[in-house]
Amino acid sequence: MSTPLPRIIQGGMGAGVSGWRLARTVSLAGGLGVVAGTALDLILARRLQVGDPGGHVRRAMEHFPFPEVAQRAYKRFFVRGGIAPGSRFRVKPLPFHDRGVARELGVLGNFVEIFLAKEGHSAPVGVNYLEKIQVSTLPALFGAMLAGVDFVLMGAGLPTAIPDVIERYVQGEPASLPLDVAGTQPSERFQATFDALEVLGAPAPRLPAPRFLGIVAARTVATALLRRTGGRVDGFVVEGPSAGGHNAPPRGRPPLTPSGEPTYGPRDAIDPAEFVALERPFWLAGSYGRPGGLAEALAAGATGIQVGTAFAYCEESDLRADLKRTVIDMARRGEARVFADPVASPTGFPFKVVQIPGTLSEEAPYLARERVCDLGYLRQAYRKENGEVGWRCPAEEIDAYVAKGGLLEETRGRKCVCNALMANIGLGQVTRAGSEELPLVTSGDAVSEVAEYLPPGADSYRAEDVLARLQAD
Ligand SMILES: Cc1cc2nc3c(=O)[nH]c(=O)nc-3n(C[C@H](O)[C@H](O)[C@H](O)COP(=O)(O)O)c2cc1C
Repeated sequence: MSTPLPRIIQGGMGAGVSGWRLARTVSLAGGLGVVAGTALDLILARRLQVGDPGGHVRRAMEHFPFPEVAQRAYKRFFVRGGIAPGSRFRVKPLPFHDRGVARELGVLGNFVEIFLAKEGHSAPVGVNYLEKIQVSTLPALFGAMLAGVDFVLMGAGLPTAIPDVIERYVQGEPASLPLDVAGTQPSERFQATFDALEVLGAPAPRLPAPRFLGIVAARTVATALLRRTGGRVDGFVVEGPSAGGHNAPPRGRPPLTPSGEPTYGPRDAIDPAEFVALERPFWLAGSYGRPGGLAEALAAGATGIQVGTAFAYCEESDLRADLKRTVIDMARRGEARVFADPVASPTGFPFKVVQIPGTLSEEAPYLARERVCDLGYLRQAYRKENGEVGWRCPAEEIDAYVAKGGLLEETRGRKCVCNALMANIGLGQVTRAGSEELPLVTSGDAVSEVAEYLPPGADSYRAEDVLARLQAD
Protein backbone atom coordinates (compact mmCIF):
# COMPACT_ATOMS: atom_id res chain seq x y z
CA MET A 1 0.00 0.00 0.00
CA SER A 2 2.99 2.30 0.14
CA THR A 3 3.32 2.74 -3.63
CA PRO A 4 3.29 6.43 -4.58
CA LEU A 5 0.07 7.71 -6.13
CA PRO A 6 0.09 8.13 -9.92
CA ARG A 7 -0.17 11.58 -11.44
CA ILE A 8 -1.91 10.36 -14.56
CA ILE A 9 -4.83 7.97 -14.47
CA GLN A 10 -5.98 6.55 -17.78
CA GLY A 11 -9.71 6.53 -17.17
CA GLY A 12 -11.67 3.30 -17.42
CA MET A 13 -13.46 3.27 -20.77
CA GLY A 14 -16.30 0.86 -21.21
CA ALA A 15 -17.14 -1.37 -22.57
CA GLY A 16 -13.81 -2.92 -23.44
CA VAL A 17 -12.21 0.23 -24.89
CA SER A 18 -9.67 0.28 -22.07
CA GLY A 19 -8.83 -3.39 -22.09
CA TRP A 20 -5.79 -5.06 -20.59
CA ARG A 21 -3.41 -3.94 -23.36
CA LEU A 22 -3.98 -0.24 -22.84
CA ALA A 23 -4.06 -0.49 -19.05
CA ARG A 24 -0.86 -2.53 -19.00
CA THR A 25 0.94 -0.10 -21.31
CA VAL A 26 -0.03 2.92 -19.24
CA SER A 27 0.84 1.26 -15.93
CA LEU A 28 4.21 0.13 -17.24
CA ALA A 29 4.91 3.72 -18.30
CA GLY A 30 4.27 5.01 -14.78
CA GLY A 31 0.62 6.08 -15.04
CA LEU A 32 -2.30 4.17 -13.60
CA GLY A 33 -3.82 1.97 -16.29
CA VAL A 34 -7.47 1.27 -15.67
CA VAL A 35 -9.39 -1.61 -17.16
CA ALA A 36 -13.09 -1.03 -17.84
CA GLY A 37 -14.83 -3.67 -15.74
CA THR A 38 -18.20 -3.45 -17.47
CA ALA A 39 -19.51 -6.47 -19.39
CA LEU A 40 -16.26 -8.42 -19.14
CA ASP A 41 -18.27 -11.65 -18.92
CA LEU A 42 -19.65 -10.95 -22.38
CA ILE A 43 -16.34 -9.71 -23.77
CA LEU A 44 -14.66 -12.90 -22.55
CA ALA A 45 -17.33 -15.09 -24.16
CA ARG A 46 -17.03 -13.26 -27.47
CA ARG A 47 -13.23 -13.12 -27.49
CA LEU A 48 -13.26 -16.89 -27.10
CA GLN A 49 -15.70 -17.16 -29.98
CA VAL A 50 -13.47 -15.14 -32.29
CA GLY A 51 -10.74 -17.70 -31.56
CA ASP A 52 -8.80 -15.77 -28.89
CA PRO A 53 -6.07 -14.53 -31.26
CA GLY A 54 -2.69 -14.68 -29.52
CA GLY A 55 -4.05 -17.05 -26.88
CA HIS A 56 -3.99 -14.37 -24.17
CA VAL A 57 -7.43 -15.10 -22.75
CA ARG A 58 -6.72 -18.83 -22.56
CA ARG A 59 -3.34 -18.18 -20.95
CA ALA A 60 -4.99 -16.09 -18.24
CA MET A 61 -7.74 -18.67 -17.79
CA GLU A 62 -5.12 -21.28 -16.96
CA HIS A 63 -4.26 -19.22 -13.88
CA PHE A 64 -7.85 -18.91 -12.68
CA PRO A 65 -8.02 -20.45 -9.22
CA PHE A 66 -11.37 -22.17 -9.90
CA PRO A 67 -10.36 -24.36 -12.86
CA GLU A 68 -13.74 -26.01 -13.42
CA VAL A 69 -15.30 -22.63 -14.08
CA ALA A 70 -12.60 -21.81 -16.64
CA GLN A 71 -13.09 -25.20 -18.32
CA ARG A 72 -16.84 -24.69 -18.55
CA ALA A 73 -16.35 -21.29 -20.21
CA TYR A 74 -13.78 -22.75 -22.59
CA LYS A 75 -16.05 -25.61 -23.63
CA ARG A 76 -19.03 -23.40 -24.01
CA PHE A 77 -17.50 -20.51 -25.94
CA PHE A 78 -14.10 -21.24 -27.48
CA VAL A 79 -14.13 -21.63 -31.26
CA ARG A 80 -10.76 -22.52 -32.76
CA GLY A 81 -10.05 -20.16 -35.65
CA GLY A 82 -13.12 -18.10 -34.73
CA ILE A 83 -16.74 -18.14 -35.88
CA ALA A 84 -17.32 -17.51 -39.57
CA PRO A 85 -17.60 -13.84 -40.56
CA GLY A 86 -21.23 -12.77 -40.60
CA SER A 87 -22.40 -15.46 -38.19
CA ARG A 88 -24.03 -14.75 -34.87
CA PHE A 89 -22.31 -14.97 -31.51
CA ARG A 90 -23.70 -17.57 -29.19
CA VAL A 91 -26.23 -16.01 -26.85
CA LYS A 92 -24.81 -15.48 -23.39
CA PRO A 93 -27.21 -15.80 -20.46
CA LEU A 94 -28.43 -12.43 -19.19
CA PRO A 95 -26.97 -11.16 -15.92
CA PHE A 96 -29.10 -11.51 -12.78
CA HIS A 97 -28.33 -10.17 -9.33
CA ASP A 98 -28.68 -13.44 -7.44
CA ARG A 99 -28.33 -16.34 -9.87
CA GLY A 100 -27.18 -17.49 -13.28
CA VAL A 101 -24.11 -18.43 -15.30
CA ALA A 102 -23.29 -14.77 -16.02
CA ARG A 103 -21.98 -14.54 -12.46
CA GLU A 104 -19.22 -17.11 -12.87
CA LEU A 105 -18.35 -15.60 -16.24
CA GLY A 106 -18.26 -12.18 -14.60
CA VAL A 107 -15.68 -13.39 -12.07
CA LEU A 108 -13.66 -15.07 -14.79
CA GLY A 109 -13.84 -12.16 -17.25
CA ASN A 110 -12.65 -9.65 -14.65
CA PHE A 111 -9.93 -11.99 -13.44
CA VAL A 112 -8.65 -12.48 -17.00
CA GLU A 113 -8.54 -8.78 -17.81
CA ILE A 114 -6.76 -7.77 -14.61
CA PHE A 115 -4.42 -10.77 -14.76
CA LEU A 116 -3.31 -9.77 -18.27
CA ALA A 117 -3.01 -6.07 -17.38
CA LYS A 118 -0.75 -7.01 -14.44
CA GLU A 119 1.15 -9.84 -16.06
CA GLY A 120 4.93 -9.68 -15.73
CA HIS A 121 5.29 -6.43 -13.76
CA SER A 122 4.47 -4.99 -10.38
CA ALA A 123 3.05 -1.59 -11.32
CA PRO A 124 -0.47 -0.92 -10.01
CA VAL A 125 -3.53 -1.44 -12.21
CA GLY A 126 -7.09 -0.25 -11.63
CA VAL A 127 -10.59 -1.34 -12.59
CA ASN A 128 -13.57 0.90 -13.21
CA TYR A 129 -17.26 0.17 -12.62
CA LEU A 130 -20.48 2.13 -12.84
CA GLU A 131 -22.58 2.19 -9.69
CA LYS A 132 -25.75 2.15 -11.80
CA ILE A 133 -24.90 -1.30 -13.18
CA GLN A 134 -25.58 -3.10 -9.94
CA VAL A 135 -26.54 -6.41 -11.49
CA SER A 136 -22.98 -7.53 -12.20
CA THR A 137 -20.90 -5.60 -9.67
CA LEU A 138 -20.39 -8.30 -7.04
CA PRO A 139 -18.94 -11.05 -9.27
CA ALA A 140 -16.99 -8.49 -11.30
CA LEU A 141 -15.30 -6.98 -8.27
CA PHE A 142 -14.58 -10.41 -6.83
CA GLY A 143 -12.86 -11.45 -10.07
CA ALA A 144 -10.79 -8.27 -10.23
CA MET A 145 -9.69 -8.64 -6.60
CA LEU A 146 -8.89 -12.29 -7.18
CA ALA A 147 -6.38 -11.11 -9.80
CA GLY A 148 -4.94 -8.56 -7.34
CA VAL A 149 -6.38 -5.32 -8.70
CA ASP A 150 -4.78 -2.32 -6.96
CA PHE A 151 -7.41 0.40 -7.44
CA VAL A 152 -11.19 0.24 -7.77
CA LEU A 153 -12.79 3.34 -9.30
CA MET A 154 -16.52 3.80 -9.33
CA GLY A 155 -18.91 6.56 -10.38
CA ALA A 156 -22.25 6.98 -12.18
CA GLY A 157 -24.12 6.88 -8.89
CA LEU A 158 -23.10 6.94 -5.24
CA PRO A 159 -21.07 3.79 -4.53
CA THR A 160 -21.64 3.81 -0.78
CA ALA A 161 -21.72 0.02 -0.40
CA ILE A 162 -18.41 -0.74 -2.10
CA PRO A 163 -16.02 -0.32 0.86
CA ASP A 164 -18.07 -2.95 2.72
CA VAL A 165 -17.98 -5.31 -0.24
CA ILE A 166 -14.22 -4.90 -0.53
CA GLU A 167 -13.88 -5.59 3.18
CA ARG A 168 -15.97 -8.79 2.91
CA TYR A 169 -13.81 -10.04 0.05
CA VAL A 170 -10.63 -9.19 1.93
CA GLN A 171 -11.93 -11.39 4.75
CA GLY A 172 -12.82 -14.20 2.33
CA GLU A 173 -16.54 -13.79 3.07
CA PRO A 174 -19.69 -13.59 0.92
CA ALA A 175 -20.90 -10.08 0.09
CA SER A 176 -24.18 -8.33 -0.62
CA LEU A 177 -25.10 -5.08 -2.29
CA PRO A 178 -28.35 -3.14 -1.80
CA LEU A 179 -30.29 -3.16 -5.06
CA ASP A 180 -32.25 -0.12 -6.27
CA VAL A 181 -35.62 -1.56 -7.25
CA ALA A 182 -38.34 0.71 -8.67
CA GLY A 183 -41.59 0.33 -6.76
CA THR A 184 -40.01 -1.03 -3.56
CA GLN A 185 -42.51 -1.00 -0.67
CA PRO A 186 -41.46 0.65 2.60
CA SER A 187 -40.97 -2.69 4.37
CA GLU A 188 -38.91 -4.26 1.59
CA ARG A 189 -35.19 -4.46 0.99
CA PHE A 190 -33.68 -6.05 -2.10
CA GLN A 191 -30.08 -7.03 -2.49
CA ALA A 192 -27.64 -8.66 -4.84
CA THR A 193 -25.57 -11.41 -3.27
CA PHE A 194 -22.34 -13.21 -4.01
CA ASP A 195 -20.93 -16.27 -2.30
CA ALA A 196 -17.94 -17.92 -4.00
CA LEU A 197 -18.90 -21.30 -2.60
CA GLU A 198 -22.26 -21.14 -4.32
CA VAL A 199 -21.15 -19.47 -7.57
CA LEU A 200 -17.71 -21.02 -8.10
CA GLY A 201 -18.03 -24.25 -6.13
CA ALA A 202 -15.25 -23.53 -3.63
CA PRO A 203 -14.78 -21.10 -0.75
CA ALA A 204 -13.22 -17.71 -1.37
CA PRO A 205 -9.63 -17.06 -0.33
CA ARG A 206 -8.78 -13.92 1.61
CA LEU A 207 -7.83 -11.23 -0.90
CA PRO A 208 -5.56 -8.18 -0.86
CA ALA A 209 -7.38 -4.88 -0.42
CA PRO A 210 -7.38 -2.45 -3.35
CA ARG A 211 -7.67 1.29 -2.85
CA PHE A 212 -11.09 2.72 -3.57
CA LEU A 213 -11.60 5.96 -5.53
CA GLY A 214 -15.03 7.53 -5.97
CA ILE A 215 -15.74 9.31 -9.25
CA VAL A 216 -17.79 12.41 -8.48
CA ALA A 217 -18.91 15.60 -10.17
CA ALA A 218 -19.45 17.75 -7.09
CA ARG A 219 -18.10 18.23 -3.61
CA THR A 220 -21.51 17.51 -2.09
CA VAL A 221 -21.38 14.05 -3.65
CA ALA A 222 -17.86 13.45 -2.36
CA THR A 223 -18.91 14.51 1.12
CA ALA A 224 -21.94 12.23 1.03
CA LEU A 225 -19.75 9.34 -0.03
CA LEU A 226 -17.31 9.99 2.79
CA ARG A 227 -20.12 10.27 5.33
CA ARG A 228 -21.97 7.17 4.22
CA THR A 229 -18.88 4.99 4.05
CA GLY A 230 -17.48 6.11 7.38
CA GLY A 231 -14.64 7.81 5.50
CA ARG A 232 -13.50 4.67 3.72
CA VAL A 233 -12.68 6.39 0.43
CA ASP A 234 -9.04 6.63 -0.59
CA GLY A 235 -9.55 9.48 -3.03
CA PHE A 236 -11.72 11.03 -5.71
CA VAL A 237 -11.74 11.50 -9.43
CA VAL A 238 -13.52 14.80 -9.96
CA GLU A 239 -15.09 14.76 -13.37
CA GLY A 240 -16.56 17.76 -15.16
CA PRO A 241 -19.23 17.73 -17.89
CA SER A 242 -16.75 17.93 -20.77
CA ALA A 243 -15.53 14.36 -20.02
CA GLY A 244 -16.31 11.36 -22.21
CA GLY A 245 -18.76 8.62 -21.30
CA HIS A 246 -21.71 9.30 -18.99
CA ASN A 247 -21.84 12.69 -17.27
CA ALA A 248 -23.63 13.74 -14.12
CA PRO A 249 -26.78 15.70 -15.03
CA PRO A 250 -26.67 19.47 -14.41
CA ARG A 251 -27.77 20.61 -11.00
CA GLY A 252 -31.36 21.77 -10.79
CA ARG A 253 -32.20 20.05 -14.10
CA PRO A 254 -32.49 23.26 -16.19
CA PRO A 255 -34.12 23.17 -19.66
CA LEU A 256 -32.04 21.76 -22.51
CA THR A 257 -29.96 24.02 -24.77
CA PRO A 258 -31.44 24.95 -28.18
CA SER A 259 -29.45 22.03 -29.67
CA GLY A 260 -31.04 19.65 -27.15
CA GLU A 261 -28.11 19.12 -24.78
CA PRO A 262 -28.06 19.48 -20.99
CA THR A 263 -27.29 23.02 -19.85
CA TYR A 264 -24.40 23.25 -17.43
CA GLY A 265 -23.93 26.50 -15.53
CA PRO A 266 -21.80 28.03 -12.82
CA ARG A 267 -23.32 25.74 -10.18
CA ASP A 268 -21.81 22.76 -11.99
CA ALA A 269 -18.33 24.26 -12.14
CA ILE A 270 -15.71 22.37 -10.16
CA ASP A 271 -13.69 24.29 -7.62
CA PRO A 272 -10.57 22.27 -6.79
CA ALA A 273 -10.15 24.20 -3.53
CA GLU A 274 -13.28 22.48 -2.18
CA PHE A 275 -11.63 19.12 -2.74
CA VAL A 276 -8.36 20.17 -1.18
CA ALA A 277 -10.42 20.78 1.96
CA LEU A 278 -11.56 17.11 1.98
CA GLU A 279 -7.99 16.02 2.66
CA ARG A 280 -8.07 13.12 0.26
CA PRO A 281 -6.03 12.72 -2.91
CA PHE A 282 -8.00 13.79 -5.97
CA TRP A 283 -7.56 13.76 -9.73
CA LEU A 284 -9.25 16.20 -12.09
CA ALA A 285 -10.97 14.81 -15.19
CA GLY A 286 -12.68 16.29 -18.21
CA SER A 287 -10.54 17.89 -20.95
CA TYR A 288 -7.33 17.69 -18.90
CA GLY A 289 -5.70 15.66 -21.68
CA ARG A 290 -3.73 18.58 -23.10
CA PRO A 291 -0.30 20.10 -22.54
CA GLY A 292 -0.38 22.14 -19.37
CA GLY A 293 -3.45 20.34 -18.00
CA LEU A 294 -1.45 18.31 -15.52
CA ALA A 295 0.55 21.30 -14.28
CA GLU A 296 -2.68 23.25 -13.85
CA ALA A 297 -4.26 20.43 -11.84
CA LEU A 298 -1.19 20.05 -9.63
CA ALA A 299 -1.09 23.80 -9.02
CA ALA A 300 -4.74 23.63 -7.92
CA GLY A 301 -3.85 21.05 -5.27
CA ALA A 302 -4.83 17.91 -7.16
CA THR A 303 -2.74 14.74 -7.08
CA GLY A 304 -3.03 14.54 -10.85
CA ILE A 305 -5.47 14.08 -13.71
CA GLN A 306 -7.62 11.36 -15.20
CA VAL A 307 -7.73 11.27 -18.99
CA GLY A 308 -9.96 9.21 -21.25
CA THR A 309 -10.64 10.62 -24.70
CA ALA A 310 -6.99 10.96 -25.75
CA PHE A 311 -6.33 7.32 -24.81
CA ALA A 312 -9.49 6.03 -26.53
CA TYR A 313 -7.96 6.67 -29.96
CA CYS A 314 -4.43 5.39 -29.33
CA GLU A 315 -3.18 2.15 -30.87
CA GLU A 316 -3.42 0.17 -27.63
CA SER A 317 -7.11 0.88 -27.04
CA ASP A 318 -9.57 -1.78 -28.14
CA LEU A 319 -11.83 0.63 -30.02
CA ARG A 320 -12.29 -0.67 -33.57
CA ALA A 321 -9.39 0.45 -35.77
CA ASP A 322 -11.65 1.87 -38.48
CA LEU A 323 -13.54 3.98 -35.94
CA LYS A 324 -10.28 5.34 -34.55
CA ARG A 325 -9.11 6.26 -38.04
CA THR A 326 -12.40 7.90 -38.95
CA VAL A 327 -12.48 10.02 -35.81
CA ILE A 328 -8.81 11.01 -36.01
CA ASP A 329 -9.41 12.06 -39.63
CA MET A 330 -12.48 14.02 -38.61
CA ALA A 331 -10.44 15.71 -35.89
CA ARG A 332 -7.75 16.60 -38.41
CA ARG A 333 -10.34 18.28 -40.58
CA GLY A 334 -11.80 20.08 -37.56
CA GLU A 335 -15.04 18.06 -37.86
CA ALA A 336 -14.97 15.80 -34.79
CA ARG A 337 -17.93 16.71 -32.59
CA VAL A 338 -19.74 15.24 -29.63
CA PHE A 339 -23.40 15.65 -28.76
CA ALA A 340 -24.30 15.33 -25.09
CA ASP A 341 -27.36 13.16 -25.60
CA PRO A 342 -29.71 13.56 -22.62
CA VAL A 343 -31.73 10.40 -23.37
CA ALA A 344 -29.66 7.93 -25.45
CA SER A 345 -28.38 5.97 -22.46
CA PRO A 346 -30.87 3.74 -20.66
CA THR A 347 -29.16 4.78 -17.40
CA GLY A 348 -30.80 8.20 -17.68
CA PHE A 349 -27.42 9.97 -17.42
CA PRO A 350 -26.39 12.31 -20.25
CA PHE A 351 -24.14 10.35 -22.62
CA LYS A 352 -21.52 11.96 -24.85
CA VAL A 353 -21.90 10.69 -28.40
CA VAL A 354 -19.38 11.31 -31.19
CA GLN A 355 -21.24 12.19 -34.38
CA ILE A 356 -20.02 9.58 -36.87
CA PRO A 357 -21.79 8.81 -40.14
CA GLY A 358 -23.13 5.26 -40.31
CA THR A 359 -23.33 4.82 -36.54
CA LEU A 360 -26.25 5.04 -34.12
CA SER A 361 -25.46 8.73 -33.60
CA GLU A 362 -27.60 9.16 -36.73
CA GLU A 363 -31.37 9.11 -36.56
CA ALA A 364 -32.09 6.82 -39.54
CA PRO A 365 -30.09 3.74 -38.45
CA TYR A 366 -31.35 4.23 -34.90
CA LEU A 367 -34.97 4.16 -36.06
CA ALA A 368 -34.29 1.22 -38.40
CA ARG A 369 -32.90 -0.97 -35.61
CA GLU A 370 -35.31 -3.53 -34.22
CA ARG A 371 -35.46 -2.98 -30.45
CA VAL A 372 -34.01 -6.11 -28.88
CA CYS A 373 -32.67 -6.45 -25.34
CA ASP A 374 -30.43 -9.51 -25.30
CA LEU A 375 -27.44 -8.32 -23.24
CA GLY A 376 -29.18 -6.61 -20.36
CA TYR A 377 -26.45 -4.78 -18.41
CA LEU A 378 -28.34 -1.50 -18.33
CA ARG A 379 -31.69 -2.97 -17.37
CA GLN A 380 -33.32 -1.49 -14.30
CA ALA A 381 -34.70 -3.57 -11.49
CA TYR A 382 -38.41 -3.15 -10.73
CA ARG A 383 -40.78 -4.76 -8.28
CA LYS A 384 -43.18 -7.17 -9.93
CA GLU A 385 -46.72 -7.47 -8.58
CA ASN A 386 -45.81 -10.71 -6.84
CA GLY A 387 -43.02 -8.93 -4.98
CA GLU A 388 -40.18 -10.47 -6.99
CA VAL A 389 -37.50 -8.46 -8.79
CA GLY A 390 -38.06 -8.01 -12.53
CA TRP A 391 -35.77 -6.35 -15.07
CA ARG A 392 -36.63 -3.87 -17.82
CA CYS A 393 -34.74 -1.52 -20.12
CA PRO A 394 -36.21 1.63 -21.66
CA ALA A 395 -34.32 0.79 -24.87
CA GLU A 396 -35.98 -2.62 -25.17
CA GLU A 397 -39.03 -3.35 -27.29
CA ILE A 398 -41.53 -0.67 -26.31
CA ASP A 399 -44.55 -2.90 -25.64
CA ALA A 400 -42.47 -5.20 -23.48
CA TYR A 401 -41.16 -2.26 -21.44
CA VAL A 402 -44.63 -0.80 -20.94
CA ALA A 403 -46.05 -4.25 -20.06
CA LYS A 404 -43.48 -4.35 -17.26
CA GLY A 405 -44.84 -1.09 -15.87
CA GLY A 406 -42.33 1.19 -17.60
CA LEU A 407 -43.50 4.58 -18.83
CA LEU A 408 -43.87 5.11 -22.57
CA GLU A 409 -42.13 8.49 -22.45
CA GLU A 410 -39.09 6.82 -20.91
CA THR A 411 -38.52 4.86 -24.13
CA ARG A 412 -38.16 7.85 -26.48
CA GLY A 413 -34.73 8.26 -27.98
CA ARG A 414 -33.24 5.45 -25.86
CA LYS A 415 -30.50 3.50 -27.59
CA CYS A 416 -29.27 -0.02 -27.03
CA VAL A 417 -25.93 1.03 -25.60
CA CYS A 418 -25.05 -2.58 -24.69
CA ASN A 419 -25.09 -3.88 -28.26
CA ALA A 420 -23.60 -0.69 -29.68
CA LEU A 421 -20.65 -0.74 -27.29
CA MET A 422 -19.85 -4.31 -28.33
CA ALA A 423 -19.89 -3.14 -31.97
CA ASN A 424 -17.45 -0.35 -30.99
CA ILE A 425 -14.83 -2.92 -30.05
CA GLY A 426 -15.38 -5.25 -32.98
CA LEU A 427 -17.47 -7.76 -31.04
CA GLY A 428 -20.90 -6.67 -32.29
CA GLN A 429 -23.70 -9.15 -32.75
CA VAL A 430 -25.26 -9.98 -36.11
CA THR A 431 -28.99 -9.35 -35.73
CA ARG A 432 -31.59 -12.02 -36.49
CA ALA A 433 -32.33 -10.12 -39.69
CA GLY A 434 -28.68 -10.61 -40.68
CA SER A 435 -27.37 -7.07 -40.32
CA GLU A 436 -24.64 -5.98 -37.94
CA GLU A 437 -25.34 -4.07 -34.75
CA LEU A 438 -23.99 -0.54 -35.23
CA PRO A 439 -21.51 1.35 -33.05
CA LEU A 440 -22.27 4.32 -30.80
CA VAL A 441 -18.99 5.95 -29.84
CA THR A 442 -18.56 8.11 -26.77
CA SER A 443 -15.87 10.69 -26.14
CA GLY A 444 -15.36 13.95 -24.35
CA ASP A 445 -15.29 17.41 -25.88
CA ALA A 446 -11.53 16.91 -26.30
CA VAL A 447 -12.23 14.58 -29.23
CA SER A 448 -11.76 17.62 -31.44
CA GLU A 449 -8.06 17.62 -30.44
CA VAL A 450 -7.09 13.96 -30.81
CA ALA A 451 -5.15 14.51 -34.06
CA GLU A 452 -2.69 16.59 -32.04
CA TYR A 453 -1.25 13.38 -30.56
CA LEU A 454 -0.15 12.14 -33.98
CA PRO A 455 3.64 12.09 -34.40
CA PRO A 456 4.70 14.02 -37.53
CA GLY A 457 3.66 12.16 -40.67
CA ALA A 458 1.84 9.39 -38.76
CA ASP A 459 -1.79 8.31 -39.04
CA SER A 460 -1.98 6.77 -35.59
CA TYR A 461 -0.47 7.41 -32.18
CA ARG A 462 0.46 5.36 -29.15
CA ALA A 463 -0.33 5.61 -25.45
CA GLU A 464 3.24 6.79 -24.89
CA ASP A 465 2.60 9.74 -27.25
CA VAL A 466 -0.34 10.71 -25.05
CA LEU A 467 1.68 10.38 -21.85
CA ALA A 468 4.55 12.42 -23.29
CA ARG A 469 2.24 15.22 -24.39
CA LEU A 470 0.39 15.27 -21.08
CA GLN A 471 3.65 15.67 -19.22
CA ALA A 472 4.95 18.41 -21.51
CA ASP A 473 4.57 21.94 -20.14
C1 LIG B 1 -14.74 5.88 -24.80
C2 LIG B 1 -14.95 6.27 -23.37
C3 LIG B 1 -15.60 5.39 -22.52
C4 LIG B 1 -15.76 5.70 -21.17
N1 LIG B 1 -16.35 4.79 -20.34
C5 LIG B 1 -16.41 5.04 -19.01
C6 LIG B 1 -16.93 4.05 -18.12
O1 LIG B 1 -17.33 2.96 -18.54
N2 LIG B 1 -16.99 4.35 -16.81
C7 LIG B 1 -16.53 5.54 -16.31
O2 LIG B 1 -16.60 5.76 -15.09
N3 LIG B 1 -16.01 6.49 -17.12
C8 LIG B 1 -15.95 6.26 -18.45
N4 LIG B 1 -15.39 7.20 -19.28
C9 LIG B 1 -14.80 8.43 -18.70
C10 LIG B 1 -13.29 8.30 -18.51
O3 LIG B 1 -12.97 7.30 -17.57
C11 LIG B 1 -12.63 9.62 -18.07
O4 LIG B 1 -13.05 10.00 -16.80
C12 LIG B 1 -12.94 10.77 -19.00
O5 LIG B 1 -12.80 10.35 -20.31
C13 LIG B 1 -12.02 11.95 -18.72
O6 LIG B 1 -12.31 13.05 -19.52
P1 LIG B 1 -11.76 13.24 -21.02
O7 LIG B 1 -12.59 12.36 -21.85
O8 LIG B 1 -12.01 14.69 -21.30
O9 LIG B 1 -10.30 12.90 -21.03
C14 LIG B 1 -15.26 6.93 -20.66
C15 LIG B 1 -14.63 7.83 -21.54
C16 LIG B 1 -14.47 7.51 -22.87
C17 LIG B 1 -13.76 8.48 -23.78
